[in-house]
Amino acid sequence: MKTIFVTGGAGFIGSAFVRLVLDEISNVKIVNFDALTYAGNPDNLQGLDETRHRFVKGDICDKDAVLQALPEDCEAIFNFAAESHVDRSINSASEFVLTNVLGTQILLDSARAKNVRRFVQISTDEVMGTLPENETAFFTETSPLKPNSPYAASKAAAEHLVRAAHETFGVDTIITRCGNNYGQRQFPEKLIPLIIANAMNDESLPVYGDGKNVRDWIFVEDHCRAIWLAYERGKSGESYNIGARNERQNIEVVKSILDALDKPHSLIKFVTDRPGHDRRYAIDAAKVETELGWQPQTTWEEGLQKTIDWYLENQDWIKRIRNGAYRDYYKKQYG
Ligand code: NAD
Ligand code: DAU
Repeated sequence: MKTIFVTGGAGFIGSAFVRLVLDEISNVKIVNFDALTYAGNPDNLQGLDETRHRFVKGDICDKDAVLQALPEDCEAIFNFAAESHVDRSINSASEFVLTNVLGTQILLDSARAKNVRRFVQISTDEVMGTLPENETAFFTETSPLKPNSPYAASKAAAEHLVRAAHETFGVDTIITRCGNNYGQRQFPEKLIPLIIANAMNDESLPVYGDGKNVRDWIFVEDHCRAIWLAYERGKSGESYNIGARNERQNIEVVKSILDALDKPHSLIKFVTDRPGHDRRYAIDAAKVETELGWQPQTTWEEGLQKTIDWYLENQDWIKRIRNGAYRDYYKKQYG
């Protein structure tokens, strides 16, 4: 049995990764280290095989706690823990610098102290900024880092620290950069679950600006499979861009959800644009396809339907989240 250390494993992508590894990789045990911020949710861990999964509540900025929780014979750290929402970073950036930058450095130091074999940093296409629309430009692994939001800047800073740990101290590192994920258990501050939850309750659907910003969507399990392959087959010190070649304008995404739920398009409300709103993300996934042999397994149509079905079947999950703290956030963000 190998043991891996997953940070942020009670969040959206981290919990999907934990599930995937427990389901599909038989010789791995997981220590799941998560601070349970507003985005971390113990409900996301229900039904896991507790003989192979151990949850530890802790903050990646707390070095003693990290060192205590890190197993001696740790095979790899997968760092999912982050403040992850762009709008929140625009309202207040300090938490993003703490967790995303300092927290990553503390994990890198701890990996060296405990001789962890490999460090996998879960990064984002947003570190590369924005692309022009109506052009065939794509993000590649050699695109310059040009982050535009405080969130993206903090994730870019983390990437630089991971690179520095590799170059200076020889830490065995992998960086993965993915586009917009969707799927089960995503916190309803992000576009797709927010639109599903509001539409289910016949509430208005806030679309920023003209609704024509483009995101490159990927089903969360496909992202997690690519992370596992990057860990298993990736070259130390390298970055891997992950994307399903699935560009969509926001307004198209919102209309597809309304149609699937049989709700009227009149619920759509165009609202003030996000400051510094990146116009288009699009990932050239050639490197993960050829070097890692990865391909997405879920089409956009299947993935969106699965996601909508999950939210329809798990209305208690979403009700528990849409409580006082979420209401306060929503009021502040949308008025
Ligand atoms: P999320 O907000 O759903 O989950 C983040 C998790 O990290 C939560 O469980 C939270 O409790 C935990 N966490 C936050 N601060 C912590 C701290 N200081 N110590 C320990 N745990 C802490 O985020 P997500 O959407 O699942 O994203 C996971 C990772 O993937 C992030 O690093 C994000 O930058 C990256 N990413 C996300 C997307 C996307 O579309 N959501 C795309 C590409 C990359
Ligand atoms: O590209 C990867 C990134 O995708 C990840 O690194 C981030 O963690 C993740 O949050 C996501 O960032 P985005 O800003 O692209 O995702 P979000 O769901 O917030 O917004 C998607 C698009 O929808 C974006 O163009 C803004 C728009 N939007 C979003 C919200 C919340 C709206 O029009 N209305 C909204 O209410």
